[in-house]
Amino acid sequence: MDVEEVIRRLTAGTERNRVQFREGFTDFAARHGLSDWEGWFSPYDDETYSQVLQDIGPDDVVLDLGAGDLRLALMMAGRVRRVYAVEVNPVVVGTALGIIGFDLPRNLHVVCANALDVAIPPGVTVAVLLMRHCQHFGEYFERLRAAGCRRLITNARWKSGVEVIDLTKPRLPFAAVREGWYACRCGAVGYVGQGENAESQAVEVDDCPACRKWRGENEASRETNCRFGWPGIRGPGVLGAGDAHAGGGC
Ligand SMILES: C[S@@+](CC[C@H](N)C(=O)[O-])C[C@H]1O[C@@H](n2cnc3c(N)ncnc32)[C@H](O)[C@@H]1O
Repeated sequence: MDVEEVIRRLTAGTERNRVQFREGFTDFAARHGLSDWEGWFSPYDDETYSQVLQDIGPDDVVLDLGAGDLRLALMMAGRVRRVYAVEVNPVVVGTALGIIGFDLPRNLHVVCANALDVAIPPGVTVAVLLMRHCQHFGEYFERLRAAGCRRLITNARWKSGVEVIDLTKPRLPFAAVREGWYACRCGAVGYVGQGENAESQAVEVDDCPACRKWRGENEASRETNCRFGWPGIRGPGVLGAGDAHAGGGC
């Protein structure tokens, strides 16, 4: 199979098909709890896909969450042991499957369902979540960790570029961060302090103010600043994290 040729067919056939503007989409999105553009299909650029491809290898079993028109899933299937691609939108994935036709590789397993309703298949080593408008990062994070998945490749926290999150790593309690960027398991990112450590790598934390807010505890005892609205501070060492705005919660 010539993957590039299949992707050319997909590009021609799925992008002009703006399914989110179709009648019934609003009700469909509400039924699935998709809000704030979360249910909109839009492919990313080649650079984003290349960043993902360089972080997967032949031994990986990949779970592609929100797989869209399957173009990245197809690219990944040529490099890894197996890809499970889960896409909620039947029009997007149905059109894509029609275009792919008999070029569908055997190691690409396509599921049309809400990824939050689907059990994580056994043996998944890495998940891909290219979904800048994701509103459920924390749920994906917890489910993947519980299933033994080791890495999460995503643009959902920093909204720009692609980061590889080590899901096995222990998280620092947010309260222990004195000065610098943080990225939380709930999906929130931000800066603690006065900006004296603005070039720092983000520290992986848990129990951040957004987590507490989510749990109904509104008391954030420390001074925090969302990435958005903290002028003059560039992002930490996340691939291409340039000018993104803050993640969920902030
Ligand atoms: C911005 S598009 C990106 C598509 C694909 N990941 C790519 O990079 O080409 C996000 C996709 O996630 C899908 N999606 C959002 N929430 C989902 C969910 N809970 N379960 C499955 N798919 C979901 C949307 O329908 C949309 O097709």
